[in-house]
Order: sequence, then structure tokens, then C-alpha cells
Amino acid sequence: MAIKSKVLVVGGTGYIGRRIVAASLAQGHTTYVLKRPESGLDIEKLQILLSFKKQGAQLVEASFSDQDSLVRAVKLADVVICTMSGVHFRSHNILLQLQLVDAIKQAGNVKRFVPSEFGMDPARMGGALEPGNETFEQKMVVRKAIEDANIPHTYISANCFAGYFVGNLSQLGTLTPPSRDQQVVIYGGGNVKVVYVDEDDVGTYTIKAVDDERTLNKTVYIRPPENVMTQGELVAMWEKLSGQQVQKVDLSAQDFLASMEGKDVATRAGIGHFYHIFYEGCLANFEIGEDAAEASSLYPEVKYTRVHEYLQIFL
Ligand SMILES: NC(=O)c1ccc[n+]([C@@H]2O[C@H](COP(=O)([O-])OP(=O)(O)OC[C@H]3O[C@@H](n4cnc5c(N)ncnc54)[C@H](OP(=O)(O)O)[C@@H]3O)[C@@H](O)[C@H]2O)c1
Repeated sequence: MAIKSKVLVVGGTGYIGRRIVAASLAQGHTTYVLKRPESGLDIEKLQILLSFKKQGAQLVEASFSDQDSLVRAVKLADVVICTMSGVHFRSHNILLQLQLVDAIKQAGNVKRFVPSEFGMDPARMGGALEPGNETFEQKMVVRKAIEDANIPHTYISANCFAGYFVGNLSQLGTLTPPSRDQQVVIYGGGNVKVVYVDEDDVGTYTIKAVDDERTLNKTVYIRPPENVMTQGELVAMWEKLSGQQVQKVDLSAQDFLASMEGKDVATRAGIGHFYHIFYEGCLANFEIGEDAAEASSLYPEVKYTRVHEYLQIFL
């Protein structure tokens, strides 16, 4: 049996981080999870960490305010996966990772670093709208630091997390399907291909990729073929499953962008990201080339969650 690398997850109690810790444990890796003293009395974070410990993870105390502690943590692992926050309406700390990159450089033992990306490929988002462009620009700053330090890496482009985009039929400001009297906004006819991915599958594919030579210094796109569909197809799938027609209202690109006006930064960032996904089609309007890889082709043994299976929970 191939030797499984030792994995350190930084940001392990977070939304995607906890799935990555779970996948690392499930796939039999020695798993370390950073435990930050700053979490203090956050009982829920502590409970999550203790539940990882119960499942066999080792908690490693370290702080972004103590660089030596980060170096010590990194030295324990072959692979470091960072799931630092990067959503404007939750918390956005992508650039903090520069300290982690420094720690990895100093430690010198890490065979693979996976920075916090897990969304649109920032390298393809050069002309993104303000203020949401901040996410992509900061992720590119982190990439540059990784590459300047010659740190072996893999970038994961995970497309639309199902939790944020599927149950709500890709609506902003809600996470659940519409009630009978709610309208569903259809973006510019709803005919642009997007990619929906269950977060647990993001964890599974990410962990599969870390010991794989085929993904070394590459971007791995998670683009499971049956989950590449248009918003219109998603809505039709929900109507079929629920047995109810939803009220649809079509919105032009111009009107959608105009809806940014007067909104706070987090909402404007969200509108910008939705525009790139649902009007411009940034997730699926390109071929995955030789310099990258696609997760479901690399790991056909993974039975990924189909969108219609994901929707069942809302019935
Ligand atoms: N594709 C999509 O649809 C999608 C959706 C959402 C997010 N994302 C991406 O996924 C990545 C992770 O986002 P997320 O929503 O999972 O993040 P999150 O849950 O908001 O936060 C993740 C972790 O970041 C750490 N963190 C936050 N502030 C910190 C600070 N000041 N110092 C040290 N650590 C701090 C915490 O780690 P501890 O566990 O140590 O407390 C936290 O649990 C981001 O790159 C984001 O852009 C993609």
C-alpha cells in the first residue's frame, strides 16, 4: 500500500475546512488540525476540534501571532492544506496565508501545499468586477508567494459549493428553495453552464489530490460531468422533484449589475461573483488543458453527489 502523507489542516473548523479534515481522516491520513488560542471561549469551535480528536485527529496549538508556532506545526506534516476564510459576508482573511507560506518556507519539509482557493480559478479572473475582485487578487498574491518560494503545491478550483448555490436555485440572499409566493430570478435566460459540487466531495477530491504526482504544481478543477448544468436546468430539476412550478423572473445582465448600487461591500462582491458565474460562464467556458487536471477524471472511483441527490434534502 502507498504511504499516506501526514496532513495538517489550517482552518479546520471552517465551512470547507471541516470537510477536508473529515476526508483526510476517512482516507487514512495522519491528520493534524491547527487549534488557535484566539478561539478562546468559542465553544462550538472547540467542540468541532474535540470531535476531530475523537475521530483520531491530533490537535496542534499554534497562532498566526506567533510565527515560530506556525513553523513548529508545519514541521509535523508532509502536506499543508489551508482553508482560511475568504467570503466577504462571513470573514475574509486570504492574505494571512502569507505568514503560513513563510512558515512552510522556513520549515522546509512540506511536500505539498494547498492554499485556500476552492472556488473560481483566480488565474482566470483577471478582469473581475470590484469589489469582489479582491478575493481573486489576494489568492493570486498568495500563489505568487508560493511559487516564488518554490513550494510544491496544488490549487483546487471547486466551482459552486452546493450549500450556497443548489438548494436556493442559485439565488442571492437565501440558502433554501423558494416558497410558493417567492420569485426565482433567472440570470439572462438561465442558459449558461455552471458547475455545482457537494462540499463533502470537495474534501474527498482534495485529499485524493495531495499524494498524487499528476496534480503536482497544477490546478485541479472539480468539474463532475453530471453536475455541469445551467441554472435553467437546475430550476427544472427542482420543479420536477418537488412537483411544483416556481415563479420565474428573467433578469438582464444590465439590470443584475444595476442591483449593486447602494449595497454594502459583501453584497456587491456577491453580485459580482454571480455575474461572472451566471452571465459570463467563467466556470465552464474553457477547456481544461495539459497544465491542469479534472478531479472526477483523475478519481473515477469517487461516487460524487449528483445535483438531484443533493436536492432531495429539501423535499
Ligand atoms: N466555491 C464556493 O462556492 C465557495 C464558497 C465559500 C467559500 N469558498 C472558498 O473557500 C475557502 C474557505 O472559506 P470558508 O467559507 O470555508 O471559510 P470560513 O468557514 O469562513 O473560515 C475558515 C477558517 O478560517 C480561519 N480564520 C478566519 N479568520 C482567521 C484569523 N483572523 N486568523 C486565523 N484563522 C482565521 C478559521 O480557522 P480556525 O478553524 O483555526 O478557527 C476559520 O474556521 C475560501 O478560499 C473561500 O473563498 C468557496
